[in-house]
Amino acid sequence: MKPLIITIDGPAGAGKTTVSRILADRLGYRYVDTGALYRGVAFEAQSAGLSQNDDIGLEKLCSGLNLKFVQGEKSQRLLSNYSDITDKIRTPEITMLASTISARPVVRKYLLDIQRDMAREKKLVFEGRDMGTVVFPDADVKFFLDASHKTRALRRYKELTSKTSQTLEEVDMDIKRRDENDSTRSLAPLKPADNAIIIDSTNLFTEDVIKLMLSYLGI
Ligand code: DC
Repeated sequence: MKPLIITIDGPAGAGKTTVSRILADRLGYRYVDTGALYRGVAFEAQSAGLSQNDDIGLEKLCSGLNLKFVQGEKSQRLLSNYSDITDKIRTPEITMLASTISARPVVRKYLLDIQRDMAREKKLVFEGRDMGTVVFPDADVKFFLDASHKTRALRRYKELTSKTSQTLEEVDMDIKRRDENDSTRSLAPLKPADNAIIIDSTNLFTEDVIKLMLSYLGI
C-alpha cells in the first residue's frame, strides 16, 4: 500500500482517539492528536493569564511557542518549549478553553503551519475537527467518526472517571457546549468533508470500527 495521509474528524467523545491510535498502530503509521495542540495553546494561554479573546496576546504567545510531540516510553508526549505538558492538558477547564480559543484565527493559523509541516513524512493518521476539510483537503482517505450525543457523553464520562470528579450531567453539558462551539465557529467548523466516509459508531465496538476502516483502505 502506498504511504497515505489519513484523516479522522468528528465530535468529542465519538471514539476518535482510541480508533486513530489503533488504526495507526495496525498500519505502522504515526498518529497525530491535533486536539492536544489546541489544548497546549490553551494551557499556555491560561498560564500566561491571557483572556480568551486577546488576539494580540495570543499571537505573541504563539510566536514564542514551540509545541512538539515526542515518543515517550509508553505513549506520545507533548512538549511545550521543552517542558512536558501532556498530563496538564486534560482538565475540564483546559478542555473548554481549547474549544474557545480554537475559534481564534491567530491560533488556527499558527497550528495549521505546524500540522502541515508534520505531514511531509506521510504514513500518518491525523485526528481532529478540520483535518479533512481545511488542513489536508487532499488527504488520501478521510473518515468522519460520529455517535449519538448520549453515547458520546457516556463514553467521555467513563474515560474521565479516574481523572476528574465531574458528574455524568456535567460531562454531558460540557460536550453539548463544545459541540456548539466547535461546529458553529466561522473558521474551520467541525463538519465532514464532502468526500469523507462517515461512520456512526453508536452501536459499534472499537474493533468493528477498525475493521470497517481497514476495509475502506482495501485491507
Ligand atoms: O480532540 P480534543 O477534544 O482534544 O480537542 C480539544 C478542542 O480543540 C476541541 O474542542 C476543538 C479544538 N480542535 C480544533 O478546533 N481543531 C482540531 N483539529 C482539533 C481540536
